[in-house]
Formats: sequence, C-alpha cells, structure tokens
Amino acid sequence: MDDKQLALKALEFSKNAWAPYSGFHVGAAVLLDDGTIIGGNNQENQAYPLGSCAERVAVNTARACYPARRIVAIAIASPDSTVPVSPCGGCREVLAEAVRAQGGADIRVVMADGKGEQVRVAMATELLPYAFEL
Ligand code: THU
Repeated sequence: MDDKQLALKALEFSKNAWAPYSGFHVGAAVLLDDGTIIGGNNQENQAYPLGSCAERVAVNTARACYPARRIVAIAIASPDSTVPVSPCGGCREVLAEAVRAQGGADIRVVMADGKGEQVRVAMATELLPYAFEL
C-alpha cells in the first residue's frame, strides 16, 4: 500500500463523516504492520467541542481493536479541501502518544487534498517537536 493508495482510502472513509456543522468532511486511513487498514472520519456534535477529528477516531479505533499491532502510517484527506489536510494540534498529541505506546516507532503521516493528488508526507515526531511529557 503506497501513500497515494492510502490517501485514496482516507478519501473513501470521508464519505461516512458526520460534519453538518462545518461542512468539512475528513477521512483517515491507518495502516497497521500486518497490512490491515482502519478507517476513521470526523464525527461532529451540536455541542461543538465534543466532535472528534477523523485521525483521532482512526488512531483510537486501531489502538482499541488491534492493541498488539504497530501503526505504520496514517493518511488524511478531505473532498472539501484543495490543499493537503494537516492534522490539528490535538491530533498531533494523539499521534505522539501512539508513537510512545509502540515503543517510539514513528508513524508516517500522509496528508492529501480532495483528489488524493497533492500529497505531503511527514513523520509524526516531526509534526510535534518538543512534545509534552509527564
Ligand atoms: N478535522 C479533522 O477531522 N481533521 C483535521 O485534521 C482537521 C479538522 C475536522 C474537525 C471538524 O469536524 C472539521 O474538520 C472542521 O474543523
């Protein structure tokens, strides 16, 4: 599964986003070390702060259902964006925690536009320098 294919999966998962308030539909696709793909999408709520980002839904589902597997990569994409979708600060913290939980093995973050064409790649640790540590 290459970056572009993972980005297209993320776009597919964006179809199940619940985003009636922002109108911004986001999908995420997590790739595990055995090739399994886990999907996520943003799930908004009328009480706005309770909404979840697509990345968070996907990463937490992967960690909840496949705790023994390592997350290799995550792609993020939105049909409503003409530029690559970049994870918000909170999701960067969640990615940093996933890296920590898998013994420091970094996660490839693939950011894509609405066509899965423009793709930007960074490692999770690069996206959150000087991460908070207890
Ligand atoms: N959103 C995501 O799902 N992921 C991101 O990386 C950025 C933002 C969602 C949150 C909210 O439902 C909508 O996009 C607009 O901010």
